[in-house]
Amino acid sequence: MAVLVTGGAGFIGSHTCVELLNSGRDIVVIDDFSNSKPQALDAIKKITGKDFKFYEINYLDREKLEKVFEENRIDSVLNFAGFKAVGESTAKPIEYYINNVSGALVLLDTMKKYGVKKFVFSSSATVYGDPKTIPITEDCPTGGTTNPYGTTKLFIEQILKDIYASDNTWDIAILRYFNPVGAHKSGLIGEEPKGRPNNLMPFVARVAAGILDELSVYGNDYNTPDGTGVRDYIHVVDLAKGHIKALEKLDKEQKGLYIYNLGTGTGYSVLDMVKAFESSTGKKVAYKIVDRRPGDIAMCYANPQKAKEELGWSAELTIEDMCKDSWNYIEKNS
Ligand code: UFG
Repeated sequence: MAVLVTGGAGFIGSHTCVELLNSGRDIVVIDDFSNSKPQALDAIKKITGKDFKFYEINYLDREKLEKVFEENRIDSVLNFAGFKAVGESTAKPIEYYINNVSGALVLLDTMKKYGVKKFVFSSSATVYGDPKTIPITEDCPTGGTTNPYGTTKLFIEQILKDIYASDNTWDIAILRYFNPVGAHKSGLIGEEPKGRPNNLMPFVARVAAGILDELSVYGNDYNTPDGTGVRDYIHVVDLAKGHIKALEKLDKEQKGLYIYNLGTGTGYSVLDMVKAFESSTGKKVAYKIVDRRPGDIAMCYANPQKAKEELGWSAELTIEDMCKDSWNYIEKNS
């Protein structure tokens, strides 16, 4: 039996493929390379010393997707396929709704056709909008997303709840990621943003490497300890391991729909991250304070207790690991 990984060549997908193979699972990967490169697949094989089947397809292509289910014994699906750039989603809402929401629907409908009902979904802390209480627990109200990307995550969560309500033989885990950063220790896989990075850590690493001139810090007048935005940064390898724990839970538990925050439980400000990057790599990160970025919130970090109690998972890697591994990846790949 194999786990189907959609978007397996991408940032979080590739790290999760490594952990799946390391945990002894067989995987089948699909990816259309719309935001990833084929080299990531070779890197996964190199890191793990294991091989797997790959199909270059878009998950909206029902015919080709069905072929994957026909040719393999799939028993569960991890869905990493999806567009993820917040700013781009505002400019291209139709593309985001088609790719993320329609893609998930084609995938779920195909799973239903082939009797595969174990599904792990990559959701995001963005579904909490501007959270009413912090640290954020899973029962915190969702909604009030500030961009189409976030709304696709919210819609898919609702679709999954409706599917489970209609047929409780599904096994579904919704994982709400906080801010994934870092890279695999090998430096062979990591984050490859398209064009100029929008997220903080890829930007910081590129300033340190001299690829970009200067970081713009979006506002220092938030109601936070140093005035800059606070987030829950989580190492991508810890995040990947959370998926293995979620799959194990679905394997052994009664059928159900489970929702987990995957974060560390600690918030760091933008300036904390700049300082941590400088001290763990010895590189200087030039920055200037500019206006707030529209749609940003002051503070967002998880209460990760539920994942700890029910999955036996908690993040282990530190902010220094995140910075060092991001830097290692940039050094090896630029
Ligand atoms: N920031 C800067 N300068 C930059 C980039 C970011 O100051 O060049 C600041 C932001 O204002 C924010 C923090 O760094 O305070 C983190 O910003 P990111 O863009 O890295 O991440 P976000 O928290 O905005 O968004 C991330 C993911 C989304 C996800 C969300 C969940 O990008 O996909 O977390 O909370 F939905």
